[in-house]
Amino acid sequence: MKIAMIGCGYVGLVTGACFASFGFSVASVDTDESKIASLKAGGVPIYEPGLGELLERGTKLGLVSFTTDLAEAVRAADVIFVAVGTPSRRGDGHADLAYVFAAAEEIGRTMAAEPEGGYKVVVVKSTVPVGTGDEVERILARHVPAERYSVASNPEFLREGAAIEDFKRPDRVVVGVNDERAKEVMARVYRPLSLNQAPVFYTDRRTAELTKYAANAFLATKITFINEIADLCEATGANVQDVARGIGLDRRIGPKFLNAGPGYGGSCFPKDTQALIKTAQDFGAPIRIVETVASVNDQRKRAMAKKVVKALGGEIRGATIAVLGLTFKPNTDDMRDAPSLAIVQALKDMGAEVRAYDPEGMENARRMMEGVDFVTDPYDCAKDADAAVIVTEWDVLRALDLNLLKSSLKNPVLIDLRNVYEPGEMAARGYRYVPIGRPS
Ligand code: UGA
Repeated sequence: MKIAMIGCGYVGLVTGACFASFGFSVASVDTDESKIASLKAGGVPIYEPGLGELLERGTKLGLVSFTTDLAEAVRAADVIFVAVGTPSRRGDGHADLAYVFAAAEEIGRTMAAEPEGGYKVVVVKSTVPVGTGDEVERILARHVPAERYSVASNPEFLREGAAIEDFKRPDRVVVGVNDERAKEVMARVYRPLSLNQAPVFYTDRRTAELTKYAANAFLATKITFINEIADLCEATGANVQDVARGIGLDRRIGPKFLNAGPGYGGSCFPKDTQALIKTAQDFGAPIRIVETVASVNDQRKRAMAKKVVKALGGEIRGATIAVLGLTFKPNTDDMRDAPSLAIVQALKDMGAEVRAYDPEGMENARRMMEGVDFVTDPYDCAKDADAAVIVTEWDVLRALDLNLLKSSLKNPVLIDLRNVYEPGEMAARGYRYVPIGRPS
């Protein structure tokens, strides 16, 4: 089985490396020459646990290769995955499909230049609005006869930071196909996972496309629900963690994605909820619950700064605040739509000096935050600060030396936006501790 993986971003790299670990030959393509040169030299452009080792092994075995030559990879491939970015289109929030359609054009032209070439399945892995596969099919049809290709949809459900584990042990794989021939090829692609008892679920292409958005919107809704319950807990003296446990033990609800926090971020939930909202409006079937979720989540991020103001007695002008954790979640260097961006901006707008620490995200954060002092050690970051705020639950921030942190801070004030510590213990240690949705 020969695979061409178009796009060496997060999804393309992880998926390509994992397919190679199944023994498939994977040619990874990207237009970015410097990225390809670096990958060829053994570099890994993103932080993802285990990815470097997988790529190294795949390259050594001759199963993974990198190229900027899309045509060469497509000619050799039985299956072509399109894993290019679909960012939010500036202005209207729709998914920008320019890269997907450009890839389809090039695949079509390459196949047309080789009239004797065989049948290929073009699989859209990028997150795309319902109906995009139909458009890809129309683009290919302009170049190649229909019997030479099928278009499939195979959305990805990987979480950053746990992507390789998620790929190898998925809750499910969703494959959208409109013909039997494509289904047979996709069954071969996912045979190693099927053998491991992973449910591979086949449906039609449009349904698969929509399933991806529905999954992310549902998870975003679940998080936003518990975040608002956390606010109510704060107002009433209840404990959100116990509420989450109390409802999560009901198997119809489930315990996951019920951790209250500063609002969801990342490269997927904010962008995908927006795109789903737009698609639904365009089709005259607005999803008002997701519209509300997106707007509540946006407001929540900035509102987190008010907790700091309250903890410091109503005024932070001239205060120094140590922000611990910047990435949108742990085990990634990804800063896209991270709550820290809005929180830091709000703190600065209210006149505070901000010092920040993150184990992996500071290089990216530097490009996105101005007027912030970046410090490479959490205790140095807290030195003489008026308060510390935990924004991301990195392991190193879950296991802080609380005595050292306290002696570093000017005031022993810790605002814990991820509920990492226990209020009773923090009080006993002499902290003014402000958690989310729990009595302090
Ligand atoms: C998410 C989905 O979980 C993946 O299934 C999907 O494949 C991916 O988007 C995508 O579309 O590519 P990811 O963005 O990597 O994955 O991160 P999550 O672990 O889902 O977290 C998203 C955000 O929600 C983070 O900011 C996290 O801190 C927040 N979150 C998550 C909470 O605030 N509380 C929770 O209980 C869970």
